[in-house]
Amino acid sequence: MAKKLSKVEIDGIEALFYDEIMQLISGFTYQKFIEKVIRDMNISINDTILDFGSGTAKNICLMKNYTDGLIVGFDTSKNMIRQAKKRCKGKNVKIFYHDIRKPHPFKNQFDIVFVSFVLHGFIDSDRNRIIKNAYESLKEGGKFCILDYNEFDLESKNIFVKAVFKYGECPLASEFIKIDLKRKLKDFGFKTFEEHLYYSSLVRLLIANK
Ligand SMILES: C[S@@+](CC[C@H](N)C(=O)[O-])C[C@H]1O[C@@H](n2cnc3c(N)ncnc32)[C@H](O)[C@@H]1O
Repeated sequence: MAKKLSKVEIDGIEALFYDEIMQLISGFTYQKFIEKVIRDMNISINDTILDFGSGTAKNICLMKNYTDGLIVGFDTSKNMIRQAKKRCKGKNVKIFYHDIRKPHPFKNQFDIVFVSFVLHGFIDSDRNRIIKNAYESLKEGGKFCILDYNEFDLESKNIFVKAVFKYGECPLASEFIKIDLKRKLKDFGFKTFEEHLYYSSLVRLLIANK
């Protein structure tokens, strides 16, 4: 059977147990890891946040502890959206069915655009559309927070990492780790960067400032 090009379109049973699956494959470290990531984003009390591919809204619920500003989530999985709406209530949280590759009406409105484990699963022209949409959504001085695989040479990694990319991940993820993401982001107008590394530098939170 041909390998699926992308694995970020998650629905059905996998969507229902997405958070549990992440805990399991991370050796029960995911919860602590994601809490640290959200702290590293340095969210201020009035920040407005747009989450691209918000999934179960686990991250929105955590970000909600740091801001009273509006938090909007976009996703295209009905199962994810159903869980997210049930899980993360509050008048400052709104979750919409929306494809992040398509334009949307929220221009220059957000302090933060967050995209977590989503960008690697798109072909490059779609990645470019997503980056453009993020840039246009941000206020001047806003932050694009990309949590995803870091850039690295897969050949230099151990057998476990190689196996994850060969059998567990999609071919687009292997392409993504070779991209000079800061250079790409600069082409879209982002000016300065800040990085936080996790899991032996295999994962990176890259904060790009507009
Ligand atoms: C790997 S999950 C990550 C979920 C969440 N960001 C997290 O870190 O827990 C990828 C998410 O992106 C969503 N997604 C995939 N393609 C999308 C698209 N074109 N537009 C919006 N969401 C999409 C999936 O439905 C899924 O919820």
